[in-house]
Amino acid sequence: MQTETTEVKLIQFKENGDERGRLVVVEGGQDIPFEIKRVFYIYGSDPDVIRGKHANRRSEFVLINVAGTSKVRITDRSGNQMTVNLNRPHSGIYLPAMIWKEMYDFSLDSVLLVLCSEHYDPNEYIRDFDEFMKVCKNAKA
Ligand code: TYD
Repeated sequence: MQTETTEVKLIQFKENGDERGRLVVVEGGQDIPFEIKRVFYIYGSDPDVIRGKHANRRSEFVLINVAGTSKVRITDRSGNQMTVNLNRPHSGIYLPAMIWKEMYDFSLDSVLLVLCSEHYDPNEYIRDFDEFMKVCKNAKA
């Protein structure tokens, strides 16, 4: 999926495994395309809950289901939609700024780890889909 700035992409992380178990490393600026300023994780969401429903003007994200599974439905600046299954602790999805995202279908054991390029600023969130589309359209004009 192509966006105007950069691309949504799946990222496979190296799994370091031995008889003791597995270990995955995510280094900011190396394994993912930004330095990590913020980390949060989402768990305890019922399967029928839809989270997210917003776009961010500046923040870039990497989403990793470190336990369990969920799905993310994204809409880019041109209105293209894509659904990604988050179901492996060693893979994630990179989302540039200005992507509409909805996370849903959480398994009971889901722990969704989110890495961000920016500190939290509620003012950079667009929480209305029509407004998101309007901002995208105006940016193109
Ligand atoms: P919200 O953005 O609604 O979560 P989601 O994107 O998963 O639907 O955030 C839930 C609450 O947590 C809301 O009160 C704002 C707060 N919050 C922070 O204080 N800092 C953060 O970095 C995030 C992501 C949320």
